[in-house]
Amino acid sequence: MAFQERVFSGMQPTGSLHLGNYLGAMLQWIKLQETHECIYCVVDMHAITVWQDPDQLRSAIRQVTAAYIASGLDPKRSILFNQSEVSEHAELAWVFNCVARLGWLNRMTQFKEKAGKDRENASVGLYVYPDLMAADILAYQATHVPVGHDQKQHLELARDIAQKFNNDFGPWIEKAGYEDGIFFPQPEPVITGLAARVMSLRDGTKKMSKSESSELSRINLTDDADTIAKKIQKARTDPEALPSEEKGLEGRPEAENLVGIYAALLGKAKADVLKEFGGAQFSVFKKALAELCVTRLVPIAVEIEHLLADEGEIDRILADGAARARAIARPVINKVKDIVGFVRT
Ligand code: TYM
Repeated sequence: MAFQERVFSGMQPTGSLHLGNYLGAMLQWIKLQETHECIYCVVDMHAITVWQDPDQLRSAIRQVTAAYIASGLDPKRSILFNQSEVSEHAELAWVFNCVARLGWLNRMTQFKEKAGKDRENASVGLYVYPDLMAADILAYQATHVPVGHDQKQHLELARDIAQKFNNDFGPWIEKAGYEDGIFFPQPEPVITGLAARVMSLRDGTKKMSKSESSELSRINLTDDADTIAKKIQKARTDPEALPSEEKGLEGRPEAENLVGIYAALLGKAKADVLKEFGGAQFSVFKKALAELCVTRLVPIAVEIEHLLADEGEIDRILADGAARARAIARPVINKVKDIVGFVRT
């Protein structure tokens, strides 16, 4: 069966979004709205796999929703909602917990990183997180998933789950009316962001992340102009001037990261940026980078503030999105129930 092309993706409401989320994923989400039916979720159920203060979680869900809209997602054109309001995600995740194998989950590097040394004390939710992520995507039979590079392994697992479900239940899928025995598509990762890996401003070998303790390591979408300028000014660099060709960035992770950010914000190649700045000292380049970041990001921060002033409107947008999401997911989950042999009364 040829599946209708449909886009699904999500971000965790654990603090405010940062430049990595914006360049690695959000810019693609915005572009895909032009060509595809898009479903963008605030994945609050994923957030609680590690402890969240309930009051902060509630405000982060609204803040991320505001950041989606302020960045350019259109709640009329795309479906925007929070995961916990569409219970089909949790229902399908349970079925996938029974399809995925322990050995598959044991290989997930993000679990190993997040659980750290004290694995026995990690939540079970953190361990089965990739099953819920597969359910997020497949509850909509989504075919395309725009993400940053760090989600690649999780998406491979989602593909394995889709395939195993199709294999395990092939004859029953056919009986349910799917002649080729295929119920779930193989979702394609879309990792084409010009900056699919934005690195920490303090250490060019680590990715920019919400969980790093130093605020100086990331630029948040809610930062004001002075904060952005200060973080860029303090960003770690090396003592050399910028090279004039891309191969000169090899072995210089901090230089490569800053040039990559500049290029991605302009939608240009790194080589083009180096044509302009090759030979320049970091002091000169950082000034230009700070100006560009401020020009691009401060209007988003202002709009986030403006949207958050009316929480009722944000909640209405989420409710409308959840209703539209449910209308797609419910029939899919009903079919899954028929296929696995549950009785629907
Ligand atoms: P999350 O919330 O960590 O990140 C949201 C998106 O931002 C991308 N990203 C980055 N891209 C480039 N450089 C970085 N430093 C960087 N940091 C984050 C992520 O790759 C992601 O695309 N498990 C997911 C959320 C999720 C999901 C899904 C995604 C839940 N269900 C279904 C797609 C489909 C996560 O924790 O993303």
